[in-house]
Order: sequence, then structure tokens, then C-alpha cells
Amino acid sequence: MSYDLIVLGGGPAGYLACERAGHAGLKTLLIEKRFLGGVCLNEGCIPSKTLLYSAKIYDYARHSKKYGITTDHAMLDHKTVVTRKNKVVKTLVGGIRSKLKSYHVDMVDGFGEILGKSGEEFRVQVDNTTYSGKRVLIATGSLPITPPIPGTEDGLAAGHVLTNREILDLNEIPSSLVIIGGGVIGLEMASYFNSAGSSVTIIEMLDHIAGYTDSDIASILMKNYQKKGIQFQLSSKVTAINADGVVYEHKNQQFSIQADKILMSIGRRPVVEGFGLEKLGVELVRGGIKVDETTRTNIPNVYAAGDVNGYSMLAHTAYREAEVCINTILGKKDQVRYHTIPSVIYTNPEVVSLGETEETAREKGLDFDVATVSMRYSGRYVAENEGGDGICKVLVDKQYRHLIGVHMIGNYASEIIYGAAIMMEMEMRIEDIKEIVFPHPTVSEAIREAIFEV
Ligand code: NAI
Repeated sequence: MSYDLIVLGGGPAGYLACERAGHAGLKTLLIEKRFLGGVCLNEGCIPSKTLLYSAKIYDYARHSKKYGITTDHAMLDHKTVVTRKNKVVKTLVGGIRSKLKSYHVDMVDGFGEILGKSGEEFRVQVDNTTYSGKRVLIATGSLPITPPIPGTEDGLAAGHVLTNREILDLNEIPSSLVIIGGGVIGLEMASYFNSAGSSVTIIEMLDHIAGYTDSDIASILMKNYQKKGIQFQLSSKVTAINADGVVYEHKNQQFSIQADKILMSIGRRPVVEGFGLEKLGVELVRGGIKVDETTRTNIPNVYAAGDVNGYSMLAHTAYREAEVCINTILGKKDQVRYHTIPSVIYTNPEVVSLGETEETAREKGLDFDVATVSMRYSGRYVAENEGGDGICKVLVDKQYRHLIGVHMIGNYASEIIYGAAIMMEMEMRIEDIKEIVFPHPTVSEAIREAIFEV
């Protein structure tokens, strides 16, 4: 059988592309070697959010006195948390499978290998069957980076070094956890395991955590974490891993730290090898597949979406790229606008970043005004966050008077930021934003307040 589209990889990019393609009537095949739903659903976004929600309930229970509630015997039962996590994943994966079926997408569980092109058709093999398609979408995702630090491979094999995959399935809470890399995964996992009772230390190479997050917000987050007992070793480089823990270098001095478990979270790399991609002559850039803003590669009818292009390794970016890919195939004008994609760190408190930070805006020589307000301007924030020290910062282009950046730390920020993304996407002038009525009392009002401060 010949397909209109063969999709390699069933993560957010792959499965959503199939849903949209099937819905539009394209004869579509999805090939997935491991789990439908990919990393996001099975060992990333969804499992981690399920764990973090349990930690949040537990934290509220332990600190409930200040809200007038007494709970004497709050306990976090990690096994039950993991069982529930598995149930959540199963429910969502089942939902995707039935949606794909309803759109008549064919699904093959197996490893797809690209054989090449014959005539106008691409050929992809799974076990002993060869499938042909007019177009191919590469959505093979990414893998954790494992650095050449001595002891890493042995530690991974022995099980005391973990990636985002294994850490979500630990049977018990390690008494001590060293996290290498203070980025998104490191911070989210630190949040859960600290709440669950581990002694957590984050070792970060840079002099700050949370990567490109606004620097004021990153330092508020770090202070919040320190108050909870999480330790940080910044400007520090791990030089060796052994059965007892890690050795690291800080200001040319060597230190060691004991750890039951070590999480390796120093970033991810696109998966571009081992499945015959080279047979198509697809161009790579910085380790990922080079695509234009419509997800087209340099080879006609070969598309790439999601982490495999290495542009913005976020599930919601993958979703958008998938939709743009299908619209492009259908001949509809569409493109990904990367500058208005928000990113979220689902720590407690949550952190959101959208657009330029003060640092990146300055580097680009942009002329902008900035206003920062305390989240305590929001009545609801005060009512629900005893002792909360969140902020909301907005950056506004001086000439055009529209938003170029919005950054927040404080809960519900993850659910609010899309509103700011719409304002940015539509290039609304702040005078127009001032006329929008925000519901009161909501945490979102902090954005409105910040706009009035510019
Ligand atoms: P990351 O890029 O966010 O952070 C890695 C950190 O490790 C950086 O701060 C880096 O400076 C540090 N680092 C690198 N080498 C090091 C070394 N040898 N020693 C100490 N520190 C070192 O990568 P992470 O956290 O692994 O996440 C991977 C990907 O998954 C990211 O692209 C992220 O966007 C995505 N993700 C997104 C989530 C979300 O949207 N909430 C949640 C989890 C992952």
C-alpha cells in the first residue's frame, strides 16, 4: 500500500501530525518503536507533572497550619504516587490510540528503517515489511546527553546514575540525590525528590540555574529551593562519578559528594542516527535536522518536527510544528513563530518565560522599557500563597509599544502565560491591552498591573 504520509516516531510531533493528517483525509502511517506518546507522555512531561502534583499536595498538607488546617500525619507514599503516574500515562496513551484509530491512521509498533527513495515514493521498512509513502515526516525526538565523564556509563549500567527515564520509576526515594545540571529536568526532579524526603544537591556548570530564564526569577527560584533545603554547587564541573557519588571541580579545587542516586540532566540531543536518515541526504545543523519555518528539510517531501530539529525542545513546540507540517502538505500557508512560544518550569513555584529577557534584549540591542511587579498585587495570589515572593516582569518595545517579553514566578503562571503569548502573537499595543478586562481576583491580574507600570 502507498501512503500519503509516513511518520517516523509517535511522540507529540508524530502523533499530532498523524491526527491532523488523518482528519484531513491523508492516508497516514505511524511507526513507533517504543511507546505511543513518546518521551513526553511516557517518561517526561506527563509523568513528571503527576509526581509534582503529589508533591504539591504533600507540601500543602505539611505546611497547612498557616492556612488554618491541622494535618498531623501527612505522608508521601512514593509507590502509590508511581502507580498513579502509570495510570495517568495509560489513560492518555489509550486516548491517543483511539483518536488515531478514529482518523483511520494505520499504526505499526516496530523500528522503522528508511531504505531510500524509489521513483516518487519513499520506502520505510519495519521488520520484514516495506511501506511506501509520498512524503515522510521525521519525528524521532531526542535522547539525554551522556557526557564523557569517567564512571558515567558504568553508573548507568549499575543503576546509580539515572536519566529522566529511570528516575520516574524508582521504587523508593533515595536518601541522597545529586543532580548534574540545574536546567528544566534537574529543577523539576529536585522539587519532587526534595518534597519526598531526599537530600538533594544540584551541581551546575554555570553561575546560575534555569538556563535562559530571566536572572531575577532564576535567583528567586533558587532562594525558594534553598529555603526548602536543596543545596546548590554553581560554577562547578563534575569530573568523575563512582559508586559512592561524584567528584567535582569548583574554582580549581576538587570536592566530592556522596549520593545514593545521581540524575544526569545536562540536556538532550536530537536522534538522527541509526534509522537510515543518511540515505535521504537530509541536511543537519547543530546536530539536528535543518528545517525551514514550515518544517521542510532540504529534500522535497521530507519534513522534520519536534526535538529532532533541536530548535526548541518542548512538546508544545512539537505540536505546533506538526500542525504546520500538515498544513504545508495540504497547501495551506502556515509557519512556526518561535519567538512567541512560552516555556514553563513546573516547579513549586512555577516559572514561565516568554520572548526576550532583559539579557537577550540588551544583547540584540533592542530599545525597550521594563516593569516588574510583585505577584502580591494579585489578591488571589496573596490569599493562596502565604509568604509568596513571586514577581511578574514585562518588557515593552519602546517604539512600537508592544510586548516583547513576559516572565513570571508564582503558581498558576503556567496556566496564564498563554494569554500573554496571544498578546505578543497579535502584536497588541499596550494601550489596547490596558482595555482588556481580566477576571478578579486572579493571579493573571499581575500581568495587567505590570503593563500599567511600564
Ligand atoms: P537543560 O538544557 O534545560 O539544562 C541542562 C543544564 O545542565 C544547563 O543548565 C547546563 O549548564 C548544565 N550542564 C551541562 N553540562 C554540565 C556538566 N557537565 N556539569 C554540570 N552542569 C552541566 O536540559 P535538561 O534539564 O536535561 O532538559 C532537556 C530538555 O528537555 C530541555 O530541552 C527542556 O526544554 C526539555 N524539558 C522541558 C520541560 C518543560 O517544558 N517543563 C521539562 C523537562 C524537560
